Amino acid sequence: MTPKTSIQARVSPVRSLETVTRRSTGAAAGLRPEVVRLHHSKPEVPKISLHGVTLSYKTNDGKRLIALDNIDLKVRAGEFLCIVGPSGCGKSTLIHLIAGLHFPTSGQMMIDSNPITEPGTDRILIFQELGLFPWLTVGENVEFGMKMKGIPKAERQEKVRYYLQLVHLAQFKDSYTHQLSGGMRQRVALARALATEPDVLLMDEPFAALDAQTRDLLHDELERIWAETGRTIIFITHNVREAIRLADRVALMTFRPGKVKREYAIDLPRPRQLEDISVARTVRDILDDLREEIDKSLKEQYGEEVHA
Ligand SMILES: Nc1ncnc2c1ncn2[C@@H]1O[C@H](COP(=O)(O)OP(=O)(O)OP(=O)(O)O)[C@@H](O)[C@H]1O
Ligand SMILES: [Mg+2]
Repeated sequence: MTPKTSIQARVSPVRSLETVTRRSTGAAAGLRPEVVRLHHSKPEVPKISLHGVTLSYKTNDGKRLIALDNIDLKVRAGEFLCIVGPSGCGKSTLIHLIAGLHFPTSGQMMIDSNPITEPGTDRILIFQELGLFPWLTVGENVEFGMKMKGIPKAERQEKVRYYLQLVHLAQFKDSYTHQLSGGMRQRVALARALATEPDVLLMDEPFAALDAQTRDLLHDELERIWAETGRTIIFITHNVREAIRLADRVALMTFRPGKVKREYAIDLPRPRQLEDISVARTVRDILDDLREEIDKSLKEQYGEEVHA
């Protein structure tokens, strides 16, 4: 199966276990099918669900800032969800909660049917600052998380080969990260995250620092990897076009306090061309909605005169 076919095969936003398993029998899966097959025994149970999640921070003047207010959100297993919203609306806070790095002030968070109480190997957070180790080679960086998990050496080496191949960096296994471009480093970070085989990838503006051409290439790569591995992805971005390019669904957050204002199902065929009229129209709708929130944030930060 070519990558293109595997992407086109998953236009439908709601997928069963069989669909996810069938998707994972692509070219990459052929190398090591047991690595990539996910077994969603209860597809009706959301992979991630948040119910009434609220988080407030204590500010320096002793008041409380409500960063997230009563968030209800469900993410299906194998779904690609993008979250957009103005700066400061709580996107990173939300993804850190799902990663188990903070506790909500109130509300419930579940992964499968289990409460999220701490970080777990079933979720991994990828952010803009990649956290690659410059003193390790590309292969050793990818191996690092597996070493921490206690995976035996022979298996680690096999997976390093497999995941570097998946991100098209097999020939750079012995290079150091300073010898790579920004886009290549981002792919190493992706391979490292995938190699620990989490069910859920939590991505906080991972491509924000990259140039447009590199970002386009990484969109293609990420979509292909997602289609081949069946992972659930929650991807934060400021860029509505990026969200429409990638997502099954886009959740738009309001400016403080952060709530989910609206959810958009993106039922457009893949791979998507931004010039397509249907894609452009969807971008327009979400941008209009987002601009209202950005205006609110600018008014709060700079006052009314900015908009006079
Ligand atoms: N540790 C903290 N203590 C106090 N307030 C915080 C803390 N972390 C975040 N905040 C506040 O919570 C709100 C949400 O922050 P968050 O970083 O989640 O926003 P964001 O949507 O990710 O913004 P950006 O798009 O700029 O990355 C902001 O008002 C921020 O100032
Ligand atoms: Mg953020």
